[in-house]
Formats: sequence, C-alpha cells, structure tokens
Amino acid sequence: MDECTIFIGPYVHSFEQKHITCVENGLIAVSNGKIIGVSDNQDIDALRSTLPCSVSPKFVTLNNSEFFCPGFVDLHIHAPQFPNAGLGYDLTLLQWLKKYTFPLEKKYNDIKFARKIYRAVVDRTLSCGTTTACYFCTIYVESCITFVEELIEAGQRAFVGKVNMNTGCPPEYSETTSSSIADTEKFIDFMKNIKNSLVKLIITPRFAVTCDMPLMTTLAELAKKHDLYIQTHISENKDEVNYVKEIFPECSSYTDVYDKAGLLTKKTVLAHGVYLTNPELKLLKERGSSIAHCPISNTSLQSGFCNVRMLLNEGLSVGLGTDVAGGYSPSIINCMRAAMNMSIHISFLHDNHIPLNYHEVFYLATLGGAKALQMENLIGNFTMGKDFDALRIDLNCQDTPIDYFNELTLSEKLQKFLYLGDDRNIRQVYVKGNLVKNKIQ
Ligand code: GUN
Ligand code: FE
Repeated sequence: MDECTIFIGPYVHSFEQKHITCVENGLIAVSNGKIIGVSDNQDIDALRSTLPCSVSPKFVTLNNSEFFCPGFVDLHIHAPQFPNAGLGYDLTLLQWLKKYTFPLEKKYNDIKFARKIYRAVVDRTLSCGTTTACYFCTIYVESCITFVEELIEAGQRAFVGKVNMNTGCPPEYSETTSSSIADTEKFIDFMKNIKNSLVKLIITPRFAVTCDMPLMTTLAELAKKHDLYIQTHISENKDEVNYVKEIFPECSSYTDVYDKAGLLTKKTVLAHGVYLTNPELKLLKERGSSIAHCPISNTSLQSGFCNVRMLLNEGLSVGLGTDVAGGYSPSIINCMRAAMNMSIHISFLHDNHIPLNYHEVFYLATLGGAKALQMENLIGNFTMGKDFDALRIDLNCQDTPIDYFNELTLSEKLQKFLYLGDDRNIRQVYVKGNLVKNKIQ
C-alpha cells in the first residue's frame, strides 16, 4: 500500500508575483513525494474522499508557531567557492576572480578536498532551505562527479555545471578547446547513466571573458543535441562589459555574443544582468532565457544596482541567486532581504521606481525560480500533482533571532521570518517528499 502523509496546519505559497497566499488552517496530502491533495480548510474527511482509496494516511500536525512554505530555489551558486564566502570584497570582479577565485577552484583537482567542501556546501544550503540549486563547479570532471555523489546522498534537487574556460584565465587553471569539450562530453555520459531524477547536468561556459567563440558555439551545439540546460554570467560589472565589447568587436552587445554562439535558449539561466540595455532585454525576452538576480554579490563585489523591476516589466523570467562566493551568504532568506534593499535604494534614485516588496521577493525565491528553470509544473508552490519540496518553519524555537509573541496572523509570521529569521527557524526540509534535513529532536 502506498504511504501517505497529511500535514495539518498553516502554509504559505505564491501563485503570482504580487501576492502571497496564506492558508491559516490547511491540509497538504503527500504520497510518493507528490502532493496528492491540498485543502484551504481542515475538513479531513472531505480531503480523504478525494484521495486514492489504497492510501492510508499518517497525520502530522503543526503547532501554532509553525507553518510550511515551498523550498527555496537558488538559481546561481558556485559550490567550490564556498570556503571563500565573506573573503576578498575589497576587490571588484576581475581582480577578485584572479586573486581569490581561480586559485581556490584549482584545488578541486584534489578529490579528497573537493568531497569535504562539497559535502559542507550541500549541508549548508539545505539547512538554509535551498531545495533546488543551480551550481557551478570547476573545470575538473572528476570533482563534478564527486559533487553529484554528494548531492544524491543528501537528496537535494540540483543542476550541476562543469565549468568551461579556455582563454583569458591563468594558464594553470585553464583548458584547451578540445579538452574542455571532451571533458564536458565525459560528464554528459556520466550523467546519462545515473539513476536519479533530482540531479541534472547544466552546460556552463564561465563567461564571455574566459570562453572563445568556437568553445561557446560547440557547447551550444552540445546543449542542443542533448537538450540540456545552460548557465553563464552576463553583464555583471562595467569593466567586464567593456572588455567583452573589446574582445568581440563583431558583436553588438554582450547579449549578442551569447546569441551568436547559440547559447540563449529557454533553458538558459544568466547570472546578474546588471548593465543590460533595452535591446538586450528584448533579445533575452525573445529567446526566453532567464536571469538569476544576485543582489548580495552585486553589492559585495561593488558590481552595481540590478534593476529587477525593469527586468520584470520587460517580461523576463527572474529568480534569486546567492552567487556564493561573490555573495557572502548561502541563504536565500538573506538574498530576499538584499533584493528588497537594493530595489528600495534604486527607488531613492529614480522617482517612478516601485521597489520590490516581500510578496515579490518571496515569489522570486520560490515559483519565480521554478519558472526560470521551466520547472513550474513540478515545484514552486503547493499545487496538486507537484513534488512536495517544502520547509517547515518555526518562529518559536530557542536560540533564533526571533522573539515570538503569539497573536500574529500567518502573513505576519511569514514577514517576521523573512525579515528576522534565519536557517535556525527552518526546522525541517523536504525534497520530493523526503525529509532531507531534520532539526526537530
Ligand atoms: N564571472 C565569471 N566567473 C565568475 C564567478 O566565479 N563569480 C562571479 N560573481 N562572477 C563571475
Ligand atoms: Fe557567479
């Protein structure tokens, strides 16, 4: 007989950008990792009458200070850079890459080191409530495989990218075009043979500064041939944008470089997009590619203000990225706050700029991220038929930053969590119905 759990209690989720749906007394029925029933009231008999009769449920009741929210999507994070989180922000992007990032990533040809760090990253991001993440790894396939093993062991939903880079980088941490392609094909073959529905490969040219056109074009062909996702960086920093113009004089913009290479698809996630021009936004919209907004990184590396309101108004799909270690925090909660702050700061500079509010950043962190990955039919909110990727939040637990006084509405509880809470308030994490993190004794 199939197992079924019915969760009894409050939950919050998004169906649209502008508005969070709060259900004070609800039910969510989960079986085989999927949501098989949802109710906005607590009529258990009514819900049970809709469930397949072979299912005999177990009940889990949340207490007054608890609620469920969908797991967070981190659209952009560099797993190997985790040890550098918080370091080196006296430099800006190109100098920071050279001094801090490339030397650290080079260490991942040591599998023992890679495993230790990768285990810690997955443990930390899960603890912070990231149920789905788009990861950059390093150029080394073997350590990418190690990372995949760690993800499968921990049960996180993830996209894993073997980084490609063949120019404009230190010779000791660089590839030739042929080795870069051969290693990518090796990783594609490995991923084809793993029996896991949660972990997928994503083609990962680092950015236009470190990939020449033949490499990017071949990677785009590989993505097309195998129907793969693609991720890279775009228009993050002024020096970077100018340099890209210099090395690709035949292209009309940074976006045009990726478009000429064939890298802009519906399954492409582009990190940053701070300095995109109107024609570039139009082109991205046409191609259906999405943007990972990384506000902590944009501030830490002094890259600039990313105008998310403008991206959304152009109809682009946007989600949030921590961009560890460009961003210092692996937590999407911190990222939501930074996104609101950045947007408010932009509104001080532009009279008609309406800043992002908590409804909107919560959407970006959940359903928005799912849409950016074309996964809105599978994750992002508590809809019947979707996978149960969920966080059990408790405002009233010891040693957390929240002083909990009763008599808050559910919407207020969520706001307290978003502004004052942290990973300690995330008591349980479910991915596809599996309890992958449990802090409740
Ligand atoms: N652009 C190219 N590589 C990187 C990286 O590792 N981090 C960030 N933030 N930007 C990049
Ligand atoms: Fe990045």
